[in-house]
Amino acid sequence: MEIKEVIRPDLLALKPYSSARDEYTGKAGVFLDANENPYGTLNRYPDPYQRALKAELAQLRDVDPNQIFVGNGSDEVIDLCFRLFCRPGMDKALQFSPTYGMYKVSAAINNIELLDCPLTADFQIDLESALKTIEREQPKLIFICSPNNPTGNLIDQATIKSIAQTTRGLVIVDEAYIDFADSESCISLLEQLDNLIVSQTFSKAWGLAAARVGVAYSSEAVISWLNNIKPPYNVSGLNQAAALEALQDREVFTQRKAAILKEKERLMDYFNQLDWVQQVYPTQANFILIQVPEATALYEQLIEQQIITRNRSSVIADSLRITVGTPKENDILINALNNL
Ligand SMILES: Cc1ncc(COP(=O)(O)O)c(C=O)c1O
Repeated sequence: MEIKEVIRPDLLALKPYSSARDEYTGKAGVFLDANENPYGTLNRYPDPYQRALKAELAQLRDVDPNQIFVGNGSDEVIDLCFRLFCRPGMDKALQFSPTYGMYKVSAAINNIELLDCPLTADFQIDLESALKTIEREQPKLIFICSPNNPTGNLIDQATIKSIAQTTRGLVIVDEAYIDFADSESCISLLEQLDNLIVSQTFSKAWGLAAARVGVAYSSEAVISWLNNIKPPYNVSGLNQAAALEALQDREVFTQRKAAILKEKERLMDYFNQLDWVQQVYPTQANFILIQVPEATALYEQLIEQQIITRNRSSVIADSLRITVGTPKENDILINALNNL
């Protein structure tokens, strides 16, 4: 893939913003270049390229730091991909539904038509039909969410590979929940596929949803173009520090993840033994999708008890998506369901 043939042609002439700190080389002692306040602790602009964070991520994921982009949440990565690759009002993107709702919203904000191939009954991609759609419609972006939200299952990697090998556009594999899954990340496919972008986040297994730190892994060419179009200081210094701290405290990460996975098993067992629950879908994420009679009524009954779940009945009939909480939170849910 030649990157200049897939990005928006009008961006080729873009002269990216050059921040004050980009414009000097050598050792600095006194910073009088960026109109900052010389007093305080948060007075300096953060590193626009998040170098310390990327150095850690490069080790963790075994990639070059130049293959990493850090965004203000992975929602920013999604938005920047639309901006970089899709001409508003002209180009198309593709998703496989039911899936994460922001692809549609971000497409609409960027005035891009979003095509939709429904997943099969077991929530996999129908490869034959997907390839036909890709040939016919030539989407610039293809979103594949794995593990998928809200269904919780992984998408077959061989299918992802076939799609990436067929399309003349980019494939974004959204791995927001990959750290909970017992599967390898698609990062391992980056060497073979230069039109692949793997998106991950600190919002889920790393426990930093408030900090807004998302990460994209791709070829150096794609990452360099994402850097060209991003807002100069898109990830605050506080947020970079929070992500770095989380990466350095691997024990907390491991313990919390284990606690969540253990509780997930407990909840799965519980839902499975309730005879009124029609379906408990297998899940590789930190949430469980269940199908129940009158899901909306149940959703509202739970809200009355201040227990908030996600009603997904608009996309999968009579379904609720339930995030795994702490043992105490899950007890509260179980108690409420027992007393219905
Ligand atoms: C599949 C998926 N991708 C991305 C996100 C957004 O992540 P972030 O908090 O990094 O913007 C979510 C959040 O729920 C998600 O479910």
